Amino acid sequence: MSENTTPQTQTTTAAAESDQPLTTTAGETAEQTRSEWTDYEFPGDAKMAVEDLHVHYGDDHALKGVSMEIPEKSVTALIGPSGCGKSTFLRCLNRMNDRVSSARIDGSVKLDGQEIYQDGVNLVELRKRVGMVFQSPNPFPKSIRENIAYGPEKHGDLDTGLLARLLNRSDAEERDELVERCLRDAALWDEVSDRLDDNALGLSGGQQQRLCIGRCLSVDPEVILMDEPASALDPIATAKIEDLIDDLAEEYTVVIVTHNMQQAARISDQTAVFLTGGELVEYGDTDQVFEDPHSERVEDYITGKFG
Ligand SMILES: Nc1ncnc2c1ncn2[C@@H]1O[C@H](COP(=O)(O)OP(=O)(O)OP(=O)(O)O)[C@@H](O)[C@H]1O
Ligand SMILES: [Mg+2]
Repeated sequence: MSENTTPQTQTTTAAAESDQPLTTTAGETAEQTRSEWTDYEFPGDAKMAVEDLHVHYGDDHALKGVSMEIPEKSVTALIGPSGCGKSTFLRCLNRMNDRVSSARIDGSVKLDGQEIYQDGVNLVELRKRVGMVFQSPNPFPKSIRENIAYGPEKHGDLDTGLLARLLNRSDAEERDELVERCLRDAALWDEVSDRLDDNALGLSGGQQQRLCIGRCLSVDPEVILMDEPASALDPIATAKIEDLIDDLAEEYTVVIVTHNMQQAARISDQTAVFLTGGELVEYGDTDQVFEDPHSERVEDYITGKFG
């Protein structure tokens, strides 16, 4: 903590005295980050609270003591140059990094005040509450309808199996309602309502990504994590995803990684800037971060001096 609170001027002087270059090889200004640059205060409750989160992959220290609170029902954008730890951070929010054998995670992540890194946490339940949408659309090679119904059926929330049908207890009607609701919420219904039994792989990339968002909604999540969800899409499909994210934030807490700075500025309420070395350097209201960043390195990054 103490290094975070070191006044910037002292660091600059120390660097000058020790003949340290004031810029790194990546062109970043050598500046010491300050904890107040990431102390974002917002009205309302924090949906998730991350404290002093460190991630190592073997000897590689990929995230260095990140602390931030994520407000509920809003869009939080994570930006920063390649390799700075954005995806690593995102994956910590629903313990997806547990699947990486070399990853070691230290620190605390709370969802509604409950620690998710403790023994006894049901990971299936956690990932229902904190869903994820990936960079490349990854629908199952099944029908559009089955893609949406898959999760609820697997979790036992919908019973459409043979036994249920024989006992005349089929939830087929309920399933149709769910499929329609999720596809409407994913802004895809009007484009696919007449071909729900077609294979999802026949949809365009943008439609597939909205289907994946619909699939994520089908298990009734509270938080939706998105890792560059529009980076493989053309501008029109991207605009649809951006509009959709805006709508989703009325109901859900959305955390999105994007390389597209204009996109972050357009769609997010708050922005977290990670820089090389796995540090969270600045976190605040999106307008403030883009128009008047505290950190010189963040300003350089946003204005395209490096990255
Ligand atoms: N599964 C993994 N095993 C080992 N190292 C990893 C793994 N995933 C990420 N890393 C390393 O951790 C660091 C951060 O990677 P991460 O993927 O989180 O960055 P990123 O900010 O998402 O980058 P990009 O913008 O390119 O997607 C990098 O040095 C990367 O090589
Ligand atoms: Mg990434």
